[in-house]
Amino acid sequence: MAKMRADYIWMNGEVIPWEQATVHVFTHALHYGSSVFEGIRAYAMNDGPAIFRGPEHFERLLYSCKVAHIPSPLTVDEWMEAAKAVLRKNGHHSAYIRPLIFRGYESLGVDGRACPVDAVLATVPWGRYLGAEAIEEGVDVQVSSWRRMASNMLSPMAKIGGQYVSSQNIVMEAKDNGFTEGIALDINGHVSEGSGENVFIIYKGVIYTPPLASSILGGITRDSAITIAKDLGYDLQEQAMTREMLYLADEIFFTGTAAEVTPVRSVDRLPVGDGKRGPITQAIQNVFFGITEDNAPDKWGWLTPVAL
Ligand SMILES: Cc1ncc(COP(=O)(O)O)c(C=O)c1O
Repeated sequence: MAKMRADYIWMNGEVIPWEQATVHVFTHALHYGSSVFEGIRAYAMNDGPAIFRGPEHFERLLYSCKVAHIPSPLTVDEWMEAAKAVLRKNGHHSAYIRPLIFRGYESLGVDGRACPVDAVLATVPWGRYLGAEAIEEGVDVQVSSWRRMASNMLSPMAKIGGQYVSSQNIVMEAKDNGFTEGIALDINGHVSEGSGENVFIIYKGVIYTPPLASSILGGITRDSAITIAKDLGYDLQEQAMTREMLYLADEIFFTGTAAEVTPVRSVDRLPVGDGKRGPITQAIQNVFFGITEDNAPDKWGWLTPVAL
């Protein structure tokens, strides 16, 4: 994979050349994972870039800050302005936007609250996360041997840097076993989520997705898929599910900013349905990609246009 980079990045209030955005090796977050972040997409519309559900992402960033005891230097609106400024300066029409707030360099006490708060926002070019053909063909996944963290251990609803050791365990194990991704169960053995994706299961015409109580991140693409599915008239249930539902399913798909809406074609080498993208998955994809590729009206106001 090519090294991710851009010409400019926002750091602590200023847009600066990419190479100048550096930190000291004694940065608290490097040692203890004391950072919070978001992953957001800007899509290329016919007349310039548009940020997909930006305010919702920055609201979740501020929620993560609250849980991690790391104050955000900016409000939601100010973060939106920073994102627009970096997209403009880099001339990006479509991009992955990564804001990151972290405890900087001061001391190595585990309680990092004496350390300064540093913040960056990057925009980098990025294509399909699980591969271009995955959107049509689907991906092969395994049920992970790793459980998702319980919410009395860590905070699955927040995007805190250190927690992503859990996601790394899930995805590294899956790749080493020849799969694209893993689906983790929660501490009670119920279906939770992928390393960076929420899961939807379709069984006998009903769409199911795990509830927040199953140790999931409340995904913004998950929310988009729920909105689209209900608007299309499908019965959608948020409910705890056993592992077997993954084997019984007629269709399964992942949602995520990176993965967008990606079908799952097998779980533990058992085909999902007939092993091809199913009609309900495709119907939801059509609306999602219709909006993000500027071929359908943005009926829920999900896109914020950016004047370049
Ligand atoms: C653990 C985890 N679950 C689910 C998601 C999907 O969330 P979203 O749709 O907001 O990108 C992500 C990505 O942010 C994630 O890291």
